[in-house]
Amino acid sequence: MWGGRFAAGPASVMREINASIPFDKRLSQQDIAGSKAHVAMLGQQGIVSAEDAATISAGLDRVAAEYAANGVPVDLDLEDIHMVTESRLAELIGPVAGRLHTARSRNDQVATDLRLWVRDAIDQVEAGLAALQSALLTRAEDHADAVMPGFTHLQSAQPVTLGHHLMAYHAMIGRDRSRFADARVRMNECPLGAAALAGTGFPIDRHATAVALGFDRPTGNSLDSVSDRDFALDYLMAATQCSLHLSRLAEEFVIWASQPFGFVKLPDAYSTGSSIMPQKRNPDAAELVRGHAGRIAGCMTALVITMKGLPLAYSKDMQDDKPPVFEAHDLLGLSIAAMTGMIETVTFRTDRMRALAESGYATATDLADWLVREANVPFREAHHITGRAVKLAEDRGLQLADLPLADLQDIDARITDGLYAVLTVDASVASRRSHGGTAPDQVRARIAEARAKEHAA
Ligand code: ARG
Repeated sequence: MWGGRFAAGPASVMREINASIPFDKRLSQQDIAGSKAHVAMLGQQGIVSAEDAATISAGLDRVAAEYAANGVPVDLDLEDIHMVTESRLAELIGPVAGRLHTARSRNDQVATDLRLWVRDAIDQVEAGLAALQSALLTRAEDHADAVMPGFTHLQSAQPVTLGHHLMAYHAMIGRDRSRFADARVRMNECPLGAAALAGTGFPIDRHATAVALGFDRPTGNSLDSVSDRDFALDYLMAATQCSLHLSRLAEEFVIWASQPFGFVKLPDAYSTGSSIMPQKRNPDAAELVRGHAGRIAGCMTALVITMKGLPLAYSKDMQDDKPPVFEAHDLLGLSIAAMTGMIETVTFRTDRMRALAESGYATATDLADWLVREANVPFREAHHITGRAVKLAEDRGLQLADLPLADLQDIDARITDGLYAVLTVDASVASRRSHGGTAPDQVRARIAEARAKEHAA
């Protein structure tokens, strides 16, 4: 296609390093859509005849049908999806195919194709994350008042509810969705018509192609248009942050499924056995979601480093933008689907969670707060008194609520019988009614808000 001034063909290693068709064949649909919009505009503007435009457009439909039926043929000599499509078009409709590439370049073509692809990718991720959020809401609703230990430093800290804990992930995924939505708005400008780098002398209508491809407007600077990959980076950065959230949830599942915790029984469908230890039920899916977050961050880093220091405008380095975008998207899609499936089907062992919440002196803060509230003790002093009560309980192998009143009064005479009411885990969570707190009525209010938002969408 570009060999006019070359006497010899490329070395075989040149063919190999130069070719992107093994991976950019994934852009085939977008490439055809971009070409159809371009040729329709060329016809409308009289840059090619209406008849030729119609012939080319029909030919592109035939190529698309062939791709759909048989996949995209990989021929390294044709380099990339743009050349493969154009050469097949020429086989089908003859030399008129050569008019398609008027007033464009592969540089604006690939920039357009990849934007279209990333836009579709965002729409897929958005649907997946909406489903994950909905699954989290359903399980949070079921367990809005199921008490579990809340942790800091992975040490039992204060009782919380399982619904509250699940809604924390709902909040994270909500931020992910807004990041993807922001990226989508920002990237929705069409680079087609920037041509190789400087624009074109043909009387093209960039607004028409932009609208035809569902973009809000054409891009404003041709040099930037062909060399900008911010949209791919925005996608990868949002994907990285999303995968971080998924990996944290996955890690909770790994911990919760371990025998010492026993907070969940993972569904058979998301666990594997061991070939040597028959008792094992391994949380492989959760571990792989955790692992995939590393690979997704790697994809993001790969493109950051590819783009770093590239002068304007297009450089071939940028051909390497696609594999990390595709890989991250595949990994993220799998991770979202696996986490959604696990959330939907996991068995929460709320009896076990409650037992652990009751055993870790998790209501010590409630004791201190009671002293502040009922006996007007300064918090620092209350903290100290409570520490002594915890030590006594520990020495005796008792829970705080099992300490006799007389012994508590030995520690501090201001303690009365009324204290015991705040030492249960249920009283503890019910008391934390500050906005966004773990009290079941607060959790239910947040769930109701999220449901209303879901229905409004
Ligand atoms: N396959 C190329 C890529 O993905 C298409 C653009 C080629 N442009 C060029 N000037 N060689 O980047």
